[in-house]
Amino acid sequence: MSTRSTVILGTGSYAPKQILTNEDLSKMVDTSDEWIRARSGIRERRIAAPDEATSDLAVHAARLALEDAGLPASEIDLVIVATITPDYPMPSTACVVQSKLGIKSSAACFDVNAACSGFIYALDTACAMISSGRYKKALVIGAEKLSSVVNWKDRGTCLLFGDGAGAAVVGAGHQSGTGLLGTRLGALGDDTELLFIPAGGSRTPASAKSVAAGDHFIKMKGKEVFKLAVRVMEEAARDILEQHGLSANQIGLVIPHQANLRIIDAIAQYLELPVERFFVNVDRYGNTSAASIPIALDEARRVGRIKRGDVTLLVAFGAGLTYGSALIRW
Ligand code: UT7
Repeated sequence: MSTRSTVILGTGSYAPKQILTNEDLSKMVDTSDEWIRARSGIRERRIAAPDEATSDLAVHAARLALEDAGLPASEIDLVIVATITPDYPMPSTACVVQSKLGIKSSAACFDVNAACSGFIYALDTACAMISSGRYKKALVIGAEKLSSVVNWKDRGTCLLFGDGAGAAVVGAGHQSGTGLLGTRLGALGDDTELLFIPAGGSRTPASAKSVAAGDHFIKMKGKEVFKLAVRVMEEAARDILEQHGLSANQIGLVIPHQANLRIIDAIAQYLELPVERFFVNVDRYGNTSAASIPIALDEARRVGRIKRGDVTLLVAFGAGLTYGSALIRW
């Protein structure tokens, strides 16, 4: 591990204007506001406009993060976008973002596909690249237009997902013991089919048949994923705390992936922390996959839930099945 510390210099987030409430959903599928709130804690989610792609959401969040950091886009030499809903299968959304922000051609730009853990994977990657001394300032973005891959006729999944983007500007720190203290990343690749999009890749390229079968939409075994999410996020949180000799009580704020309020409640209970110590906005956005943690991080900073010297724990779980946790001292 390099001794050069890496810090978050600014954050930003963006949610599309259109709000889809549970009431709206109950007119589309056989469900109700009461059921959705009781089973997931979600009240509403945001839906991007038809002409808004993932890169557009990402650019909004990135501009706000740059403004928060007080840096011009010209200083960025690394762009990483975590997403499972890229603008195109190729090239990367990071290259589209680079162009829209006028970032220099000597910047490295690529996407990370780690679903809901994507932002933590991307943050770890950016921090490692900055620690190496070869890059100076990174834009790390989690952005999703999940509404484009949701089956709006499947009541078991459509209640959960929403669109949005969050971004962080990352650079070298000057004080050791601050910034990203460490991460714990992993994956359970044997269980890919618990949560996946079956078609559109090399295994099943797009065809009239795959479209007719609805195989370009998210398929999820909700109950199994739920149980794994609780167990694996708890473990990922415990592991990283142990690695750094910290107890859960020393954490100022936990920013968990926002998938389901019941998952967050269960993790809080297992870690023996009051749920008030967890940042929650799943009620307003649903699950925005890679965007979930950076949106929550930005909102937490802006409402004053994170103070200088605090240690924040990020923890996520998603398709892959991937998981990740990170500790940040501010
Ligand atoms: O980002 C990380 C990955 N994602 C997650 O972490 C999500 C994890 N899973 C979940 O959040 C939950 O599984 C859901 C909220 C998706 C579903 O809740 P659940 O308590 O696991 O419900 P279920 O799928 O076991 O369904 C229970 C019942 C079923 O009826 P029967 O078979 O008992 O008659 C479903 O058909 O509820 C029914 N149901 C619904 N009813 C009303 C399923 N979805 C709905 C719905 N409205 N939207």
